[in-house]
Amino acid sequence: MRRKLVAANWKMNGDTALVSGLLSGFLEAELGAKCDVAIFAPTIFLPQVAATLKESKIRWGGQNSAAYLKGAYTGETSSVMLKECGCQYVLVGHSERRALFGDTNEICGVKTELALSEGLIPVVCVGETLEQREANQTMDIVREQLRAVIDQVGIDALASCVIAYEPVWAIGTGVTASPDQAQAVHADIRAYVAEQRASVAEKIQILYGGSVTAGTAQELFGMPDVDGGLVGGASLKLSEFVTICHSAE
Ligand code: 13P
Repeated sequence: MRRKLVAANWKMNGDTALVSGLLSGFLEAELGAKCDVAIFAPTIFLPQVAATLKESKIRWGGQNSAAYLKGAYTGETSSVMLKECGCQYVLVGHSERRALFGDTNEICGVKTELALSEGLIPVVCVGETLEQREANQTMDIVREQLRAVIDQVGIDALASCVIAYEPVWAIGTGVTASPDQAQAVHADIRAYVAEQRASVAEKIQILYGGSVTAGTAQELFGMPDVDGGLVGGASLKLSEFVTICHSAE
């Protein structure tokens, strides 16, 4: 049985006080004991997150990493640096990075490779726009996004990654994919991986992201190929995120 993972993606939100309040609440709720929990905090807060969570079962990660390990890349943060902050995970290819910051499929492949080389678990984000869904291109788009990563790192290395299916039309819109819609894509992702290596397909955690709330989490996480969630807005609300984590237990 795959263990569930619930991840908080705070995006570019919060300040020291909010981070401190959320983390104390997560510790008090003893998150991370019955399912994996990871916090994707803004880079600037990672040392605070690391100091607060280091004795707990909660893990943390960066929201992005550079396509280089070091050098003259002003403003970037490398996988090496994330690792030094105690990160276990890093997001790769979130749709906001793809749409706003030029992260192509190929760049996502390189970022995945570098994250793996530093011992981080890349959470590779994939998903289609509404226009692509309506044109019945969902699986073509998702497979293409995954193929670029597999081409770069190889199918066996995918066993050390997590996949997050995040339909762009569901992110920040309040429109959650229905459990059946999510399950259909998750099953197809697993089938695509299985075509290449059945053992990797069986093991890999596939998270759903896009307007997950305390009200929708339980049913989504109950689907056979949904191994947890990547939660944006609702992860900034203490009791809601705790409820979402409990839904995965
Ligand atoms: P929302 O939960 O705010 O829709 O964001 C989802 C997301 O992008 C998580 O990475």
